[in-house]
Amino acid sequence: MFRSHTCGELRIQDVNKSVTLSGWVQTVRKFGSITFIDLRDRYGITQLLFSETLNEKLEANPLGREFVLQANGVVHERSNKNHNIPTGEIEIFVTDFNILNKSITPPFTIQDDTDGGDDLRMKYRFLDLRRQPVKNNLELRYAVGRSTRNYLHEHNFMDIETPFLIKSTPEGARDFVVPSRMNPGQFYALPQSPQTFKQLLMVSGYDRYYQIVKCFRDEDLRADRQPEFTQIDCEMAFVEQEDILNMFENLIKRIFKDVKNIDYNDAVERMTWEHAMWTYGNDKPDIRFDMNLCNLKFPAHTFPSQKDISSLINGNDFKVFDEAETVIAIAAPGCSEYTRKQTDELTEWVKRPQIGMKGLVYIKCNIDGTFKSSIDKFYSEEKLKNIANAVNAKAGDLIFILAGAEERTRKAASELRLYLGQQLGLRKPDEFKLLWVLDFPLFEYAEEENRWVARHHPFTSPKPSDIHTMINNNPVIENPTEYLKHPYANIKANAYDMVLNGNEIGGGSIRIYQKELQQKMFAALGMDEEEQHHKFGFLLGAFEYGAPPHGGIAFGFDRLCSILGGSESIRDFIAFPKNNSGRDVMIDAPSSIDKKQFEELQIKLDIKA
Ligand code: AMO
Repeated sequence: MFRSHTCGELRIQDVNKSVTLSGWVQTVRKFGSITFIDLRDRYGITQLLFSETLNEKLEANPLGREFVLQANGVVHERSNKNHNIPTGEIEIFVTDFNILNKSITPPFTIQDDTDGGDDLRMKYRFLDLRRQPVKNNLELRYAVGRSTRNYLHEHNFMDIETPFLIKSTPEGARDFVVPSRMNPGQFYALPQSPQTFKQLLMVSGYDRYYQIVKCFRDEDLRADRQPEFTQIDCEMAFVEQEDILNMFENLIKRIFKDVKNIDYNDAVERMTWEHAMWTYGNDKPDIRFDMNLCNLKFPAHTFPSQKDISSLINGNDFKVFDEAETVIAIAAPGCSEYTRKQTDELTEWVKRPQIGMKGLVYIKCNIDGTFKSSIDKFYSEEKLKNIANAVNAKAGDLIFILAGAEERTRKAASELRLYLGQQLGLRKPDEFKLLWVLDFPLFEYAEEENRWVARHHPFTSPKPSDIHTMINNNPVIENPTEYLKHPYANIKANAYDMVLNGNEIGGGSIRIYQKELQQKMFAALGMDEEEQHHKFGFLLGAFEYGAPPHGGIAFGFDRLCSILGGSESIRDFIAFPKNNSGRDVMIDAPSSIDKKQFEELQIKLDIKA
């Protein structure tokens, strides 16, 4: 028997028990003739005490960090208790020990606060995984998975596996491709998601499907993106949007309860895409705090239903505002006493290439009711006051104003809002706010190709009220500069995203299930009949055999875990992640393959390494 107990198990009630523990040596401390060892396993750390009777054996068998040790002994109450760990009231008085395996000195300390940098820890990820914080993250991931499976099982969802070797149909991201030895010159693709398969399962009558499944996307990586990541992928037949929203907000609430013991009793907020863009400048707003954008000026066609208040700023000889397409203001609460240094720093921040603005205007709404701004030369105090009223700024607030081209300015305002929110401590890590973003545009315009692309994916249906607009209009864009005036620009999708604290954690849609509408959609995206047949003939064919109305959603499993765990980076919640160049530095992948493998695949390589 290697062990009678784990290293996280023994308590004061176990005093006098004879026990055997096995684990890794975390630290060795010598005090005169006595040696203390912290022994670690997955469950915790227990202190071992080696008295002088074992000195001879210890000298003959010296112990080092990360040795695998088996120790027999008796549980004693500790005189010097450590109340920071659950086993801290006891120690094991070792009677004998056995070195199960040696270890060379690890490249970094296996402790909560390690001295190892990112690269080193990734190269020795198997050692990094021994550390408690990493272990906690994987435990949390496991708990989220368990809670998900329980909930979905209780609601009659069936876990069905779909293939990983599929057909390449790049639309969103790039595909990872796999050559086929048995079909020379032909390639499989790894799925970007099981989208078409789950829809086929609906046609087959499996009306509630789910899978916690790997997806593969060859796209640029960021903290919240990995080339292979995991989705909680779900699909339901005979449902409308409302059914999906209810089913899956309850899934997330259940996960909150099971994993974080949070009772999320509030209704999940809902917001249209247009409202999100108008008020927060992006489609995944962090609604833990306000600081809404005030649109002082904007191109009329972008938000046709909104009131124009540009007279508040136009015509005062301030060219920056007069010539700008868009001017957006944000009031930072209680910041009117910011120093010159602080406003200068923020100006530099918005000028960084990532944000790309030319400058930042400010108006201080002083506590005494006066106003002071960086544009005093152009705007009287009365005018500044009118702007402050429009922005809903209070005495003591500091208004920041950005001006420039619509898309860039809106994005910059959104980033500035988040940055200020962070600095002001308004984005509390232990507060969770869910949000559904609804009514996305069905299409986006791809300038380089002068064509429509599906904003979500080509299987998303338009809102029922917009179907006739889609069917009765020619998708061709005659005048690219005025694409927003094309009827297709106003078609709304029957799609929804779930947002948690400013992160898109899931997205889905009600699907097209009629062959003709699906063909119309493909055609709108510029696919002729031959291409439609080549890429999606199987789906169009299936739609001829009684496809039920259906819809679904997929959550980013890694993202959900990282947010619940309070981290920005999904890598921390993946056992063996890739780095930002898509490399696994531990196994050194990707790597070249043997000449023989190339020959078998009948692939000739002509790349200079
Ligand atoms: P979508 O492409 O929106 O939808 O993906 C669903 C969710 O997956 C997460 N996600 C990622 N997580 C980590 N790394 C990535 N590279 C990555 N890409 C996406 C996001 C996202 O919200 N088939 C559709 C779903 C559907 O319509 O049912 C789909 O894949 O959290």
